[in-house]
Amino acid sequence: MNLNEYIRDIVDFPKPGIMYKDITPLLQHPDALKKTLAEFKAGIGELQIDKVVGIESRGFIFASMLAVELHAGFVMVRKANKLPYKTLAETYSLEYGQDQVEIHQDAIKKGDRVLLHDDVLATGGTASAALRLIERLGGEVVQCNFLLELVNLEGRKRLGEKEVYSLLSY
Ligand code: PRP
Ligand code: MG
Repeated sequence: MNLNEYIRDIVDFPKPGIMYKDITPLLQHPDALKKTLAEFKAGIGELQIDKVVGIESRGFIFASMLAVELHAGFVMVRKANKLPYKTLAETYSLEYGQDQVEIHQDAIKKGDRVLLHDDVLATGGTASAALRLIERLGGEVVQCNFLLELVNLEGRKRLGEKEVYSLLSY
């Protein structure tokens, strides 16, 4: 089974000139879903993980499944003003303007070993902001994993020396 076959290209979404990678066919297919989870687990190997951090919103899907599989806690990094308790925030730049992500202050304990997950690594702005949040709380990110990586955008460079594991590259 080739997981690439379950990623659909949508031309000019959400705006002209953007080729959107739609993961919903993969999510709808039980065997593709199972294989994706197994491949993430293979990439994690024997790493000990205390918390899996998922980035809103599509990052929540596999992050929560992985948390159950790894017997780790699940933590949400959310867009601005969504989290109800005390938060830390980080801003990151978009093509035009800025955006912000937040985490609960008690979500990560000093020394926690963290797996950071999102569905797509593009410019790396979102993931690097999430990484900064985790590190500000004293967490140690032991791997960043993604379903897909848009390699020519060089998002990996923004994650410094962290281990980056992507299942599919475009
Ligand atoms: C997409 C994708 C990643 C991010 C990657 O999320 O799911 O989270 O962009 O881009 P970057 O590497 O350039 O930061 P989006 O903000 O579209 O929201 P969604 O997950 O809620 O659909
Ligand atoms: Mg996203």
